[in-house]
Amino acid sequence: MDKVVDFINLSRERYLDELKAFLAIPSVSALPEHAGDVKRCAEWCGEEMRRIGLEHVRLIDTPGNPVVYGDWLHAEGAPTILFYGHYDVQPVDPLDLWLSPPFEATVRDGEIYARGAADDKGQVFMHLKAIEAHLTQNGRLPVNIKLMIEGEEEVGSAHLDDFIRDHKSELAADVVVVSDSTMFDRGVPSICYGLRGLVYFQIDLRGSSTDLHSGSFGGAVANPAFVLSQMIVQMKDRGGRIKIPGFYDDVRELEPEEREAWARLPFNERKYRKDFGIPKLAGETGYTTLERTWARPTFEVNGLLSGFTGDGAKTVLPAVAMAKVSMRLVPNQRPEKIAELFDAYVRKLAPKTVELKVTRMHGGKPWMTEYDNPFVQAAGRAIEKGFGQKPIFTREGGSIPVVSTFQEELGLPSVLFGVGLPDENAHAPNEKLDLGNFHNGVIASAILYDEIARAPSA
Ligand code: BES
Ligand code: MN
Ligand code: MN
Repeated sequence: MDKVVDFINLSRERYLDELKAFLAIPSVSALPEHAGDVKRCAEWCGEEMRRIGLEHVRLIDTPGNPVVYGDWLHAEGAPTILFYGHYDVQPVDPLDLWLSPPFEATVRDGEIYARGAADDKGQVFMHLKAIEAHLTQNGRLPVNIKLMIEGEEEVGSAHLDDFIRDHKSELAADVVVVSDSTMFDRGVPSICYGLRGLVYFQIDLRGSSTDLHSGSFGGAVANPAFVLSQMIVQMKDRGGRIKIPGFYDDVRELEPEEREAWARLPFNERKYRKDFGIPKLAGETGYTTLERTWARPTFEVNGLLSGFTGDGAKTVLPAVAMAKVSMRLVPNQRPEKIAELFDAYVRKLAPKTVELKVTRMHGGKPWMTEYDNPFVQAAGRAIEKGFGQKPIFTREGGSIPVVSTFQEELGLPSVLFGVGLPDENAHAPNEKLDLGNFHNGVIASAILYDEIARAPSA
């Protein structure tokens, strides 16, 4: 292992140049104008995988963006890792808030700034470099590994469940490794054992065929902006509890042991408020901030649009109003069922004075695992060696739709070993990745393969 670690330590500068090239490709999956870049990014991944010595590298088509696949399967008798990551990134708007261009990676104060630096290109690249280190130094890996890097995670992985069902035998493995999450805090590495799920909707209301003079018509015609606001207000009570009938039926309550463990985590509420400019925290009565974000479902308005929003004033009765809303789900809520409950409730809330259109968008299932699994323990040892500190166990509020599919379709446990930080601006302007964490992450990943090879079979 020393040779591998030495090689990693000597490669710092080169890693940076290569990562910059990866980050330069604007692989924004949400925007049709970037379709060519998404494809080019898939090809870049394939090239890099071939170059570091992976085999059977190919782009596998889906009805959406290709999955990049590659493997190395010569560790006879050793376990097989299925590595999952994504090469697509979120849109960059608002562009004017970026301090350096989102697709020209720039290093400032030990952090690399670019869209995708943390989510998820930097973390995918970290594993490619760990594999490269083993293959160049030893000519082999201690484990078998299959990599699948997808291009639609940021738009809900709509085609991935079918992809996995269609390639079940090719994807057979012992454990899934994912690096697409954050550490608990700077200097506090962690392993994530739970993710929330998601259902996302657009609501459109129309109150008239055209905008109207608010003096001539106001008072006699429903205002869709107002009606939409009234409907949104009906989604939660004053204690922050969601009022959709049946919404909590399948929610798995927190165990007392879990609450006690989380209460002991080094979470500083004042710093959290200060870091993100939050005047006062809000949320469901009876739960702490970590509980609210990791283990409780939410209803959020992600976007709201209606009427006149320019400078000055305009007396207008808007014809339409639109909201994008989503719900984060927790075990054992199911997106399909929650979507039905939401749809029925919205239809009940909408008055006859407006036309209503409800459109369901992407989503994903929640996920949670027991972390006494030997592979998770192996990851714990690898992180301790790479970061000089034992990891803590956390859940996350975000979603990675495919992780529960790995469990359900392939029967595989997942190890979520993330090296991002909560303040690295994923999905926001000035996304960045701490280069120290990246570097330790390459070392920890290289050690992880060794530790998994030695783990007692699960
Ligand atoms: N990497 C994130 C998920 C994540 C965020 C995990 C924070 C742990 C901590 C992922 O790329 C993501 O953004 N997922 C989307 C999924 C959605 C588009 C279906 C999300 O959570 O909004
Ligand atoms: Mn991600
Ligand atoms: Mn993301």
